[in-house]
Amino acid sequence: MLNISDFNNNLLVWYQANKRDLPWRRTSDPYRIWLSEVMLQQTQVITVIPYFEKFITNYPDIDSLADADEGRLLKDWEGLGYYNRIRNFQTAVKEVQNTYDSKVPDDPDAFFSLKGVGPYIGGAVQSIAFNNLLAAVDGNVLRVMARLNLDYRDMTKASVQKSVKQNIEAIMPLEAGDFNQALMELGATICTPRAPKCIMCPVQGHCEAYKAGEVASLPVKKKAKAKKEIYYNVYFILNDNEEIILRKQEGTLLQGMYELPKYDIDTSVESIEEELGLTLDHPNLHVGSVKHVFTHQVWYMEGYVLYTKDAHPDFISLNEVEKLPMSKAMQKIYRQFEG
Ligand code: ADE
Ligand code: SF4
Repeated sequence: MLNISDFNNNLLVWYQANKRDLPWRRTSDPYRIWLSEVMLQQTQVITVIPYFEKFITNYPDIDSLADADEGRLLKDWEGLGYYNRIRNFQTAVKEVQNTYDSKVPDDPDAFFSLKGVGPYIGGAVQSIAFNNLLAAVDGNVLRVMARLNLDYRDMTKASVQKSVKQNIEAIMPLEAGDFNQALMELGATICTPRAPKCIMCPVQGHCEAYKAGEVASLPVKKKAKAKKEIYYNVYFILNDNEEIILRKQEGTLLQGMYELPKYDIDTSVESIEEELGLTLDHPNLHVGSVKHVFTHQVWYMEGYVLYTKDAHPDFISLNEVEKLPMSKAMQKIYRQFEG
């Protein structure tokens, strides 16, 4: 980059004039900014907006989120995915309530010690809420920086991301929060993955990739590993009282979410009977097939109905099912059964 202060000026002036009017940009409340960044870390802006509004209504401040029932929080988060985010956020917010008198710490070291706060969330919240001079490097920012600096390193590598973060912090102006958001905004609206609008770019004059005619070949990302394919049989185990077995998940990324009993496709009905301690009447009525794509896995689910006359602690009335938090994958197969 030719001239740091020119670059910073061009970027910040452009941002002030062109930034999108987003709900978390209308607040200076560090808790709300933090909540928005937790949502935005792995989810697109357009999806986040209604969830952010719902959470601000239901949990307007630190204490209301800290004191909330976990099941209700997960239900409100339902559909956003990466459910660890909200469970970690509540753990962190409880610590803010207990240790910091319900005020989000403006000391980066204190903030980084909270659950779920890594380099991205820490940098984003500390810069946007308190103007602490920390970068917030997400996928948009990596793409923009790779192009500006004609940087052919593999942007999926943690070591490269760390180096990019240092490069940004070396040129960071005092308006840290706006600067970080401007880089993200440039990546989201102008310096897009495909067909970037270089003609309209406020920092075109500083862009090495543009000068070299190499915009289309950046950023470099090593090929993602093929997703693991997993095949499940999913069972709708019904009794005579219009109840169904739904289990609360433990010890997984989906902890606290509810699921229908699911088994590897090679599992026999006899061994399922043994595991559940039930006798199953199995016409094995097939209700549908569903595919769900996660970040690192693809699930192929086949749904079947089984009946029992036995009791089991996990029976839940069919009318109650919609009140429980369920992952998108489970909702998809559940809808096959409803329909
Ligand atoms: N993506 C991550 N953080 C963001 C923010 N503050 N505004 C818009 N998009 C974002
Ligand atoms: Fe991105 Fe093009 Fe601007 Fe360079 S000139 S930063 S490639 S939009």
